Amino acid sequence: MPREVRDVVFVDGVRTPFGKAGGMYANTRADDLVIRCIRELMRRNPQLPPERVEEVAIAATTQIGDQGLTIGRTAALLAGLPKTVPGFAIDRMCAGAMTAVTTVASGIAMGAYDVAIAGGVEHMGRHPMGEGVDPNPRIIAEKLVDPSALVMGATAENLHDRVPHITKERTDAFALASQQKTAKAYANGKLQGDLVPVAIRDEANGWGLASVDEAPRDTSMEKLATLKTPFRPHGKVTAGNAAGLNDGATAALVVAEDTARELGLPIGMRLVSYGFVGVEPEVMGVGPIPSTEKALRIAGLSIDDIGLFELNEAFAVQVLAFLDHFGIADDDPRVNPWGGAIAIGHPLASSGVRLMTQLARQFAEHPEVRYGLTAMCIGIGMGGTVIWENPHWKGGDK
Ligand SMILES: CC(C)(COP(=O)(O)OP(=O)(O)OC[C@H]1O[C@@H](n2cnc3c(N)ncnc32)[C@H](O)[C@@H]1OP(=O)(O)O)[C@@H](O)C(=O)NCCC(=O)NCCS
Repeated sequence: MPREVRDVVFVDGVRTPFGKAGGMYANTRADDLVIRCIRELMRRNPQLPPERVEEVAIAATTQIGDQGLTIGRTAALLAGLPKTVPGFAIDRMCAGAMTAVTTVASGIAMGAYDVAIAGGVEHMGRHPMGEGVDPNPRIIAEKLVDPSALVMGATAENLHDRVPHITKERTDAFALASQQKTAKAYANGKLQGDLVPVAIRDEANGWGLASVDEAPRDTSMEKLATLKTPFRPHGKVTAGNAAGLNDGATAALVVAEDTARELGLPIGMRLVSYGFVGVEPEVMGVGPIPSTEKALRIAGLSIDDIGLFELNEAFAVQVLAFLDHFGIADDDPRVNPWGGAIAIGHPLASSGVRLMTQLARQFAEHPEVRYGLTAMCIGIGMGGTVIWENPHWKGGDK
C-alpha cells in the first residue's frame, strides 16, 4: 500500500500552574490535574469535535494510585471525551510528556489517526521520586550502572566532576537568571495565557484557586551561596540551582497538518524531527547533547539554524554543559527567555509539554525565527530533543 508521511503540528498546549510538592495541590488528585488540562484544551478549541480526538497519551513516572489505571484512558473518560476515544499511559521519566507527543506524532505521521492529545502529570507530593521502585539487584551487582545513577541530584554532582570548569558560582548565576526571567515573564503576562486555573481546597482555608506557579522565588547570589548541598558534602548542587519537587500537569493537541487546516485549528509549530539517546546513567544530565545532535542530523540542520531553545532546567550544571558544548553563552537571549524549571518547577513527566507550549508562544512573537528546539535530560541516562518549525516564519536568517 503506498503511504506518505504526513506533516504533524502542535496546535495548542496548556498546563496547570505548577505547585510545590505537598503545597497547594496537597489535597488535589493527580488525575484531576490532567482532566483540567484536557477540558481546557477542548474549551479553547471549539472547532474540534470531541469525537475527532482519536488518541490520548498521558505520561506519569509513577504509575500507581491516582497516576495509575492507564491514566490516558481514564483521564479522557473523566474529561468527558466520548467513550470511543482510546487512551494510554506512557513513561520515560522526565521526558514522559515529550515522548507522549513524539509517539502520537509518529502515529499521525504514518496515518493511524489525525488528532491526539498528549501530556503528562506528576504529583511529586503524592508520589515522591522512587516510590514503589524495585530495581533489579543485577543493575548494581553487575555494575550495569553506578548506584548514584538512581539519585538524580547525585548524577548532577557527577556531571560537575566531568566539567570542573563549570563553577558553583556559574550555576548559581544561571539559576538566579532563571528566576529573574520568570519573574519578568509573569510581569509581562507571558506565562498566564497557558495556565489552567485549578480549584484547590485545604482544611484551614477552605476553597481556593491555583492560578500561578508556586515555586518561583525572589533570591540573590548571596542567598544561593548559603544553601546546603544535599547530594554530596561540599558539593555544588543545591535546592537553588536545581529544579524542585513539584506537582502539575500539561496537555497538548497534536494534529495532522491537513486535518488542522480542515478544522480551522491554529498551527502553533510544525514538527521537524526528534531524537532520543542513551548516555552513561551516572551522568544523565549530558543526555540532551547527543539527542540534539541526533535530531539536528535527522533534520539536516546545524545548531546555528536554531533561533529559540527551550531547555529543561533539571539542574543548572546540565544546561551549562549543553550550552558549552554548542558554544552558546550562558545568557544567550535565545535560551529559555521566560526562565525555566529552576524557577517554574519540574513535575517530571509533565514538563516536556510545558517546554513546547512556551516555544509555540515564542514562535508567534518571533517571525524572524524559523526553527526552535525543546530538549531535556532523562533519568537512567537519556536525552530527548524535538526540533520544531515556526509557522509564522517570515523569512530571515534563522
Ligand atoms: C534539591 C532538593 C533535594 C531540595 O529539596 P528541599 O530541601 O525539599 O527544598 P526546599 O525547597 O525546602 O529548599 C531547601 C532550602 O533552600 C531554600 N531555597 C531553595 N531555593 C532557594 C532559592 N532559590 N533561594 C534561596 N533559598 C532557597 C529553601 O528556603 C529551604 O530553606 P530552609 O531549609 O531554610 O527552609 C530537591 O528540590 C530535589 O531533589 N531537586 C531535584 C529534583 C530532581 O531530581 N528532579 C529530576 C531531575 S532529572
